[in-house]
Amino acid sequence: MNILILGGGGREHSLAWAVKQNPKCDRLIVAPGNAGISEIAECADLDILDSGKVAEFAQENTIDFVIIGPEAPLAAGVADRLRAAGVLCFGPSKDAAQLEASKRFTKEICDACGAPTAAWARFTQSAPAKAYIREQGAPIVVKADGLAAGKGVIVAETTEDAEAAIDDMFSGTFGDAGAEVVIEEFMDGEEASFFVLCDGENVLPVGTSQDHKRIGDGDTGPNTGGMGAYSPAPVLEGAVAKRALEEIVVPTIKEMSKRGMPYQGVLYVGLMIKDGAPRLVEYNARWGDPECQVLMMRLGAQALDLMLACADGRLDKAQVHWADDHAMTIVMAANGYPGSYEKGSVISGLDDLPFDSWHMVFHAGTAEQGGAIVANGGRVLNVTARGNDLGEARTRAYAMIEKINWPDGYYRRDIGWRAMRE
Ligand code: AMP
Ligand code: GLY
Repeated sequence: MNILILGGGGREHSLAWAVKQNPKCDRLIVAPGNAGISEIAECADLDILDSGKVAEFAQENTIDFVIIGPEAPLAAGVADRLRAAGVLCFGPSKDAAQLEASKRFTKEICDACGAPTAAWARFTQSAPAKAYIREQGAPIVVKADGLAAGKGVIVAETTEDAEAAIDDMFSGTFGDAGAEVVIEEFMDGEEASFFVLCDGENVLPVGTSQDHKRIGDGDTGPNTGGMGAYSPAPVLEGAVAKRALEEIVVPTIKEMSKRGMPYQGVLYVGLMIKDGAPRLVEYNARWGDPECQVLMMRLGAQALDLMLACADGRLDKAQVHWADDHAMTIVMAANGYPGSYEKGSVISGLDDLPFDSWHMVFHAGTAEQGGAIVANGGRVLNVTARGNDLGEARTRAYAMIEKINWPDGYYRRDIGWRAMRE
């Protein structure tokens, strides 16, 4: 089959890497792709937020299957347009993608289906929002309703900080995304992510993971898109995963169908776990980045069969073939990220690394310049390894980093610390 993947980060490189290993894949195009992706697939210059252009491109190139990576094309309705044009597509409709695009929508769904989550209230005006904060006390969480590229959530330690966040949001810092705010109870516990394929009716868990959102070792400093991840996440195995599926995911999927917006695609379930009880922090309507990289490393070629079964409504007959393995990815970012950083510095040493089913470097923000790989974004490389246990995966991943020569790069040295302490 001819397959098109939309996106150009480390997540899409890992998707392309897994899909490409499946003999069902004949031609693979990634739009826009990046320097690493161009080594295994054709990269196309296409405006992936323009659903008309994406549908036209798919038809012109006789694409049989489209996999949508990031949230923006989902929120723009690209999946709806492709399905209307008769193109098989992995990713939820614009309506269903509200589970990521609107915090209020998700809270209402949770209330309607009884899924455990933080107590909440929504506001469109500053005075009642601040009165609510004073009434509830701190710590408390203030969120812009809409998509804010991961920056629209303030976990406030004091009511003063929470009120300042309200001023910030209503002053337009987050544009339309902040026109409405959700204020939530602070949940204590350990965070982990659960990834579940949904075909509108059936659900199939495809892995657990833990991200590292802060820039610095020991989970310090500002939030980022994610500085590293590993899978599986021990805190979310066994009975906890079963509870998350039964108490949160299945009721949500049923509620979405009931509302005439069946959810098709991967549901990224962000959970807070305390004393073995999971509560929902957030949903995302896509694979996590960098969580996808560790999941693809573990799933390999079968990822394509699973995504096809999901898009086709055949998940009840699909099965994941698990190996007893662990994977870890370490993000190398440009110095300065998540603040301002330079582009264009040269990265060398990649050619000397072993790339196989145990070792991979997925490219995020890279470009090719005169035969060299240069940094072209904030998060730049995802150094990824698989092992028989987490320690082995970690040793392999850090050994690879040692061989990469990029003086302008930064990485955390403690990825996996929560799982390793056990
Ligand atoms: P979100 O974009 O909703 O995932 O929020 C970003 C991060 O803020 C989460 O990954 C959590 O670490 C934190 N967070 C969000 N909501 C809560 C909450 N109600 N209690 C505690 N931490 C939260
Ligand atoms: N790594 C967090 C996310 O993909 O949203």
